[in-house]
Amino acid sequence: MAELSPMMKQYFETKKKYPDTILMFRLGDFYEMFFDDAVTVSRELELVLTGRACGQEERAPMCGVPFHSADSYMARLVAKGYKVAICEQMEDPALAKGLVKREVVRVLTPGTVIENSMLNEGRNNFLASVYFAGESAGVCFVDVSTGSVNLTELASPAVPDKIINEIGRFMPSEIVFNSASSSLTKVFSFISNKTEALAQELGDSYFDPRQSTETILAHFKKDSLSELELHEGSAAVPALGAALKYLTEVQRNDLENISSISFYSELNFMRLDVSALRNLEIVETLRNREKRGSLLWVLDKTRTPMGKRMIRAWLERPLIGMARITKRHNAVAELVSQPMVRQELGESMSGIHDLERLITRISFGTAGAKDLRALALAASCLPELKEKVSVLSSSLMRECAENIDALSDIYELIDAAIVEEPPFSVREGGMIKDGFHPELDSLRDIVLNGKDYIAAIQQQEQEKTGIAKLKIGYNRVFGYYIEVPNSYKELVPDEYIRKQTLANCERFITQELKDLEAKVLGAQDRIVKLEYEIFDDIRKRTGAELARVQRTAAAVAQLDVLCSFAQAALENNYVCPQMSAEPIVKIKEGRHPVVEKMLNGEPFVPNDTVLDCGDDRCAIITGPNMAGKSTYMRQVALICVMAQAGSFVPAASAELGIVDSVFTRIGASDDLSAGQSTFMVEMSEVASILNNATSRSLIIFDEIGRGTSTFDGMSIARAVLEYAADKKRIGAKTLFATHYHELTELEGQIDGVKNYNIAVKKRGDDITFLRRIVRGGADGSYGIEVAKLAGVPKPVVDRAKKVLKEIEESGLVLVREREPSTAAEPEAGQISFGQNSSNEIVEKLKVLDVNTLTPIEAMGVLYELTKSAKEI
Ligand SMILES: Nc1ncnc2c1ncn2[C@@H]1O[C@H](COP(=O)(O)OP(=O)(O)O)[C@@H](O)[C@H]1O
Ligand SMILES: [Mg+2]
Repeated sequence: MAELSPMMKQYFETKKKYPDTILMFRLGDFYEMFFDDAVTVSRELELVLTGRACGQEERAPMCGVPFHSADSYMARLVAKGYKVAICEQMEDPALAKGLVKREVVRVLTPGTVIENSMLNEGRNNFLASVYFAGESAGVCFVDVSTGSVNLTELASPAVPDKIINEIGRFMPSEIVFNSASSSLTKVFSFISNKTEALAQELGDSYFDPRQSTETILAHFKKDSLSELELHEGSAAVPALGAALKYLTEVQRNDLENISSISFYSELNFMRLDVSALRNLEIVETLRNREKRGSLLWVLDKTRTPMGKRMIRAWLERPLIGMARITKRHNAVAELVSQPMVRQELGESMSGIHDLERLITRISFGTAGAKDLRALALAASCLPELKEKVSVLSSSLMRECAENIDALSDIYELIDAAIVEEPPFSVREGGMIKDGFHPELDSLRDIVLNGKDYIAAIQQQEQEKTGIAKLKIGYNRVFGYYIEVPNSYKELVPDEYIRKQTLANCERFITQELKDLEAKVLGAQDRIVKLEYEIFDDIRKRTGAELARVQRTAAAVAQLDVLCSFAQAALENNYVCPQMSAEPIVKIKEGRHPVVEKMLNGEPFVPNDTVLDCGDDRCAIITGPNMAGKSTYMRQVALICVMAQAGSFVPAASAELGIVDSVFTRIGASDDLSAGQSTFMVEMSEVASILNNATSRSLIIFDEIGRGTSTFDGMSIARAVLEYAADKKRIGAKTLFATHYHELTELEGQIDGVKNYNIAVKKRGDDITFLRRIVRGGADGSYGIEVAKLAGVPKPVVDRAKKVLKEIEESGLVLVREREPSTAAEPEAGQISFGQNSSNEIVEKLKVLDVNTLTPIEAMGVLYELTKSAKEI
């Protein structure tokens, strides 16, 4: 086998160190990729695949991108979930002896990028680090682009479920984990089905507890873990340690912007698991995963990128501490009552760019002059903003006023140094203002006036020699030269040095010309270098103020979100919820914040809610399809979430106790893609709710038991309701919509259960939805009427009515109309249905019309018949 070329050897040595990345290898003006990387990239980015001689018989597959436009190619690869290692030339190829030295200077990965082009302004970009240790787990989410670190420790029981919930909440774009985590099949099926995160196992050395402790202490410059609210032996330590180590490796940087940790526990936030977040459409819709149609869409009036990210985080993690919640409400109330101030604050904030991400890039040394200018522009809005917040008196507003730093020194520094519209590149000059640096000014004078000097020499030489056609020109080979037409050759003085003879002229140089040239050309090079040095110095001096900028950014974000809540409250007519120490949910004229905005012109009918831990623990809600059951239940849950996130709520009044979690079980048709049957998914969600809910929880069950046969479904629904309502088991506040009218029997039988239905008005075959919730069970299911309303053709509706009548008359009634409940209480856990007899089975068979049954229906009937038979 032939030897590889030296360059290829260098390539392979580098590639060996970064086997799981796409290696972009700098060759002059291009980044080249070879072999498998080239094939992958040419496919993913639709680039031409070529080849390059590599010393072997076959040419190496190769594809490349020009270095000046490489960013967008890199961004696309990272967005597709690839890791990209950037290998640069570490010396000037013109000066290098032999092979140019090359090194990987950074690895771009989805969870660790800081470039604007690879980030979404309104969302954090998290790297998750998961350390699983059996009984407990540490989970850490770092957004290196903003410097935020969220860290938690999860203890048994149900550690895998808790990991899933945290991942669902933060939606990281990349996850690293220790080897023990790889046994968590449930977690990984969640990651691959429900997230787009790139997941990879890191060697266990990354998670070594002792090394992690050292890494953490060194990074945060502390002497002990307790100064960071951490302790030895906590699973959070290796999770954080591994994240820091990994980030340092890919960033090649000391991560100065990561300067504090937010250590949170399940005790700080309302528990909203992944299905609740999705079902309640908190930040995106269930169907299209769009912001429009979500709660965030209604409430987000923020003006700054930091505010956009924070409002999302607040809605995803509502609080459970009374004091912190009411502090937010008080601030919103103050902003609602001061419309002028709020508007002015909004205007001041509109000019504030992404302070968090700007200061990150500045402190990492990757920011350009445009970034500095953007920071200065943001800083220029701060003094006014600070002054305006200072007139407000609620405690959160006072906190904001205190934490907003006017950053005037930073503004002045940047404004004095950097031109208004600097170029993108920091290596070509044109960034620094005149008058900022004396040496730069004098160099610029030489360059500027150099042309005049040349013109003066030209004139002087013309006069001296009497050659009117003598010209001074410039080319890259000899620099400046004097050109004399052949006809004047005789007049050329002796001191001219001949350089080139052309067909009709000759070119000369003189000492004087060369001296000037050295000065002029040298000045241009020197200017570019000096400008970079000055710029870098300004960047470093600005970067040194990182902590002040970060604190200001956080205060602006908070102010932005509270203003946004206030504006949404005014625009949508919300009220301040009254938080109560009692475990109650008392809502007068509550509305669904999203549905009310989606009803083109039609009025939304408000409804009251009373739930507590006593007689009104559990509401069974019946009513025809489309009546508004799901809307009503979600509205109650959303009002609780909004209140605990700090927002006002859509109601005439609301008195709310704090709920520790909201659980939902609502249709899951989309889960088929996850390879589980709908019913299986439904039951595993029910299981998770029953295992995790407490008496302080709010549970929403929307038509459980639908995915299986009627008797099965009804039995399960009833048993679940009994368990949830039972004070000895859970006793949670529960809203339970069902199409099983039998379950309305439970009022009076089970403590705390009340029946409600959503009223409809019936006239002949037609029904009108009144959308009003009233006491008592619904008096029928009105399926046929709803079908008619939906536009099902008349012959079908008529036929359905006839079939229904036949079935009712024949006794094949699987679900009987409710009879006034007899006092006898069933034994716990036992379910009473009509007695079956063999006669009944024969009757059922008689009326069956096999020709009209679909195979699935036939299976259902068969199943029920065999079941009835077994019960005889
Ligand atoms: N209170 C209300 N006021 C006005 N329209 C409503 C109200 N509640 C529901 N709706 C409308 O009725 C539709 C169906 O409601 P939904 O809650 O899905 O019914 P169900 O769950 O009973 O089948 C909603 O999409 C909405 O347009
Ligand atoms: Mg529904």
